[in-house]
Parts: sequence; structure tokens; C-alpha cells
Amino acid sequence: MWLYLYYQKIEFVLAKDLTVPYNSSITNLSFIENIKNGKILTKEEKIDTTKLGTKKITLTFQNQYGRKENQTFAITVVDITPPEIKFQENLTTIEGNEIDLLKDVTAFDDVDQEVKVLVEGTYDFQKVGTYSLSYVAKDQSGNETKKEFTLTVEQKKVPQSNTNTNQPDTTFTTSKGFQGTTKNGVTYIDGVLIANKTYSLPSNYGNGLTQDTMNAFNEMKNGAKTAGLNIEIISGFRSYNKQNTIYNNYVARDGKTAADRYSARPGHSEHQTGMAVDINSLYTSFENTAEGKWLSANSYQYGFILRYPKDGENITGYMYEPWHFRYVGKDLATKLYNNGSWITLEEYFGITSQYE
Ligand code: DAL
Ligand code: ZN
Repeated sequence: MWLYLYYQKIEFVLAKDLTVPYNSSITNLSFIENIKNGKILTKEEKIDTTKLGTKKITLTFQNQYGRKENQTFAITVVDITPPEIKFQENLTTIEGNEIDLLKDVTAFDDVDQEVKVLVEGTYDFQKVGTYSLSYVAKDQSGNETKKEFTLTVEQKKVPQSNTNTNQPDTTFTTSKGFQGTTKNGVTYIDGVLIANKTYSLPSNYGNGLTQDTMNAFNEMKNGAKTAGLNIEIISGFRSYNKQNTIYNNYVARDGKTAADRYSARPGHSEHQTGMAVDINSLYTSFENTAEGKWLSANSYQYGFILRYPKDGENITGYMYEPWHFRYVGKDLATKLYNNGSWITLEEYFGITSQYE
């Protein structure tokens, strides 16, 4: 009888679910739901759930008559949490302008850490429309997250004409028979961009020296170097705002009438075209230097003209500037060089340079 009691079975009920979530807080005893005719001797301990997979747990029981017995069971740590996707719900671009849809998207998973994100759905950067798409991220355990977002492809804005000038596009013929056009506030005569006291530029025009101007200047610099001379740009592109500051400083110093003889009002400076450069010095004495002489005699071969020649103030609107050169291309520059007797753009095209 005693022996029979000694061998009395310990009855316990295990939790049905021996599967536990990754990183959950669980102990070796939490799987025993119920126990009859005995007790557990094993001390309660936390189970490491930071690794996926199956692990065996052995518990020691003892019945009320002192008999011990071990029971082993398997528990499985699984990843049940899908990755979390962080993203911007709405993306917008302009037709023809491809953007990276994944640029600001991240998916983070508790187990896999960084997870790859894919875009689901069809879209076309070339076609205006609103596309409903999804980001999809799947971790290695197959948990998937799907988040919807929209991509809007907007129509390219047709540049509005005359945004800055409120003048309609115009065409005209100069007194010398050249065709002029003013488009969006920018005037070309026979294809040559004109900025003087009569013809202005919109305030947002220009963003640096043009590539052609830079290339031509570098070529000219090399030519000067071969002649043993050094030429440097001391002022190239000047924005409307920069010219505004410069002009106002001169007006404050010398008065408006005097300033207008040598400094352009904002919107009227050739420097805003990105095709004019001041070289080496801003003193009239530059004409007597080797560089000044060389430029006056050779700049045309590189496509530059001496824009404000001596005694040309009533034509160009500005006093003599032996340092200011304007890129117009070699053909026109050669014509204007005129064997050393410079012709101005105003004379050649038959246009004025006067403020209204
Ligand atoms: N010095 C020239 C005229 C300008 O200000 O653009
Ligand atoms: Zn200049």
C-alpha cells in the first residue's frame, strides 16, 4: 500500500500553447497550469526568449509521498510580430521626374532588425495621375506588414509668360533691320541676349555664368598665359539682388545721376545675363596695363567684346570700362572688333540704351 502510494502518479496539466512570442517575459513554470498530488521542486526561472526556435525544459516534480520525477517538454519561441514600416503617406512629383519611392521609408523588425521594403502596385512617372500603392515588408518568419500610400504625379507647369514683367511677348525690328523678340521679359536681338538701360531682365533671371561664357573665358585665360599674362574674373554673374545692393551703395556715395553713368540699375546689368565678366581691375588705368592692352586686341578671338568702349557713353549709356567684357560668340565679336575700332552692340543692332 505504501509502495503504491509512493508510486502515485503526479498529475499536472501543461498549458496548451507551448509556443511563446519572441522577447516575451516567461518563466519555466508558467507552462504548468495545474498540478495534483504533488509539487514542483524546480525553482522558477526566466526563459530566454531572445532566440527563435525550440528549447527543452526539464522540471522536477515530487508527489506527496516523496517520489521525484523529471518531466521534459519542448517550448518554441516564435516571431509573431510583423515589421513596422515608417513612411510618408503621400508622395508627389512632376510628370517625367522620377523619385525614389523608398527614400524615406524604413521597416524595422524586432527579430530581423532592418527589413527590405518593396513597393506593390503600378505607377508611371511619365503619366499624370494619383496612384494607390503599398509598401510591403516581410520578416524571415513570414510576418508581413502592408501600408498604403499614394503617389501623385502632377502635370508639369507650363511656364507662365511674362510672370515678371506683365508685358506680352513681342517681336520688333530694329532700326538696322534686325529681328528682336521679348519673351518672358527677356530680349534677344538676332538671337543675342540684350541687357542695357532700355532692355531689362526679370528679377529671377540668371543663376551664374553660362557654360559657354566660362569655356570661352578659360580659353582666353590660356591665350593670355601663353602671352605671359594673367587674367582673372573679379566680378562675373551678379544676381538682381546683388546688383541692387551695389547700385544703391553707389547712389548713396555719388548720387543717382553720377551712379547711373557707371553702374546699372538692378535688372539692367549685363552681369545678370551670366555672359559678362570684369577682369583684373576696376580702374580706367587698366587700359595701360599689358593685360588691358592684350584683352582689347585679342578678346574677340575668344568671342568677347569690349562692351563699353571709350567715348561711347551716349551710345551704351555707360562710361568707358576697359575691364568689362561680354561674351557674344566669335563671329559677332570679330565683326564688332572691327580691326580695333570697337562697334557697340547698340550701334550694330540699331538699338538704344536709355532708361524710360
Ligand atoms: N558697370 C556695369 C555697367 C554694370 O553695372 O553692369
Ligand atoms: Zn562689368
